[in-house]
Amino acid sequence: MKIIIDTDPGQDDAVAILMALASPEIELLGLTAVAGNVPLELTARNARIVCELAGRPDIAVFAGCDRPLMRTLVTAEHVHGRTGLDGPDLPDPTMPLQEAHAVDFLIETLRREPAGTVTLCPLGPLTNIAVALARAPDIAPRIARIVLMGGAYFEVGNITPTAEFNIYVDPEAADIVFRAGVPLTVLPLDATHKALVTTARNDAFRALGTPVGRTVAEMTDFFERFDLAKYGSDGAPLHDPTVIGWLLAPELFRGREINVEIETRSDLTRGMTVADWWGVTDRPANALFIGDLDADGFFSLLTERLGRL
Ligand code: BDR
Ligand code: CA
Repeated sequence: MKIIIDTDPGQDDAVAILMALASPEIELLGLTAVAGNVPLELTARNARIVCELAGRPDIAVFAGCDRPLMRTLVTAEHVHGRTGLDGPDLPDPTMPLQEAHAVDFLIETLRREPAGTVTLCPLGPLTNIAVALARAPDIAPRIARIVLMGGAYFEVGNITPTAEFNIYVDPEAADIVFRAGVPLTVLPLDATHKALVTTARNDAFRALGTPVGRTVAEMTDFFERFDLAKYGSDGAPLHDPTVIGWLLAPELFRGREINVEIETRSDLTRGMTVADWWGVTDRPANALFIGDLDADGFFSLLTERLGRL
């Protein structure tokens, strides 16, 4: 399966990229960086650091939009640290950043590859994807599916009481993506807050005894400090790798085909994913909204894959 990962690394983005690179079922056509957890310069740098950690300096990494469509950029250094990848000590990347803009790469790739063969995997704010769809509407029917991490319904918000970070940062972009008519799978907080890195799961990463295993353990150690204090749970949610988990093993996940719309007008609930879970409107379904996952199954798959790197 051919995919493009659009990302704002972010420790959990990094783990998702590693999981994809470790999986023979997946052909990663490129990584597109977007501003989100930290500014674009750092996310484009971090994406390359992660490729080099995986021994894949051949992956094409593109920088995209450096700010949301209409809003001032909100970042999350309070979760991910100043660099976005705080925790492990990782060298600066030596592989090049591609010259082309991420949006041009997205459009050109979707026009070049046979229709219905490329899946987009956004792990950050949806700015790059929305700009590509707005600039080149002909790509929408060519996208096999968009599988994204973002939003929340029962678990509500992690950046405001009602909004999840990725959707909150660029709600107008999310609105464009959710209305694009492209098959959509959404991994919201309702799913990712069940993918908790407990001490035992983190020990399993470290026990791989490889640089990748050790680095992933150090990354999750870092952002755990924030999440444990905030949620008081058994471990930090490992959000973004659930996207790759769903691609590889959808049977580990449960959700519903429902209508999801994005709140863009209210300051109070900006970026809320208004999910018609109970089917109380006649608005047509536009997304498979995942509400639950088999956490043990997901973590054994993830750990087994990381062990291949
Ligand atoms: C999302 O926000 C980011 O901080 C994480 O990388 C993840 O994509 C979770 O709300
Ligand atoms: Ca992310």
